[in-house]
Amino acid sequence: MIAVNEPLLNGNEKRNLIECIETGWISSEGPFVKQFEEKFSKKVERKYGIAVANGSAALDIACAAIGLKKGDEVIMPTFTIISCAAAIVRTGAIPVVVDCFPDTWNMDVTAIESKITKNTKAIMVVHIYGITTDMDPIIAIAGKYNLKIIEDAAEMHGQTYKGKPCGSFGDISTFSFYPNKHITTGEGGMVLTDDEALAEKCRSLRNLCFQAKRRFVHEEIGWNYRFTNLQAALGLAQLERIDEFVSIKRKMGKLYTELLKDVENIQLPIAQTDYCRNIYWVYGIVLGKEIPFDADEAMKRLGEMKIGTRPFFWNMHEQPVFLKAGLFKKEKYPVSENIARRGFYVPSGLALTEEQIYEVAGVVKKVLKF
Ligand SMILES: Cc1ncc(COP(=O)(O)O)c(C=O)c1O
Repeated sequence: MIAVNEPLLNGNEKRNLIECIETGWISSEGPFVKQFEEKFSKKVERKYGIAVANGSAALDIACAAIGLKKGDEVIMPTFTIISCAAAIVRTGAIPVVVDCFPDTWNMDVTAIESKITKNTKAIMVVHIYGITTDMDPIIAIAGKYNLKIIEDAAEMHGQTYKGKPCGSFGDISTFSFYPNKHITTGEGGMVLTDDEALAEKCRSLRNLCFQAKRRFVHEEIGWNYRFTNLQAALGLAQLERIDEFVSIKRKMGKLYTELLKDVENIQLPIAQTDYCRNIYWVYGIVLGKEIPFDADEAMKRLGEMKIGTRPFFWNMHEQPVFLKAGLFKKEKYPVSENIARRGFYVPSGLALTEEQIYEVAGVVKKVLKF
């Protein structure tokens, strides 16, 4: 089986992990955590980074830290992972969704303004699959209506929008370091901001809102979303290679596109927009309407030929859990609905070899013949 995602761990990861074991620093108190926070924040051009247990935890903390509360509304893309909407809902706020653009699969920024009400407090931007969201219109709308921006840059390590790092735009931004990301810490995430008070709030929320004055006395409820020295050991080694990893992914994307560009009736990821170049977090394929089967069938056929795949995200407005709660009644977002049903991605990990890319592309061509 060609795995859908396999990380590269052949730098200083082992050396750093051995150091953790030899020194006994394995908890969140270890010295690598701070080093990783400082180095990653510098890369993203932010003042403060708060490393946390995973990218979903980072979103929980970000939404709580900016003070979302019952009845507030947050505008976000419907086409994303549940972590984004779940973090909003957990604060008592309401996710309000928009469709995505058919070429970038990122939120349709022209649909945001009409969704603003007196309850709107924030826009949650989620950069999708390697191309960034178009930030300028969002920054303009947020300024006009005094809204906060939460920037989910989970998939965007090493990516830039108009030359500025992803993760540097939101009032608060988040990353994930799951093993399918450009750099990994096993599980892991980070919240970033330039606001000192907000950073302090995030640190407190990460650590159960323990107080300096008297431990075990709490004014607020937080989480244990701490990040360990073992995770940071991996992260520091991975971060040394972030630019190399971005270029490996770009080479992978370029080769897949060269090999698949002549296949009829499929949509491939775009290589660039006028504000960013794709970093190919994953290499997605969307089946055209002429193909008489959907992504599930294509993935089944690819699996039978030993090619690992994953489906695209399932939209927030189609999630049973939210429909049961009375959200998104009768809402329709045709672009997102189409790509959720007809999109999937092929092996895209950093350890993928050139021969494997040729093999995957060959099988995709065979499987998509009808
Ligand atoms: C856009 C986005 N946000 C959040 C997450 C959640 O990150 P994690 O899996 O680390 O909780 C992911 C995970 O892939 C993601 O793609």
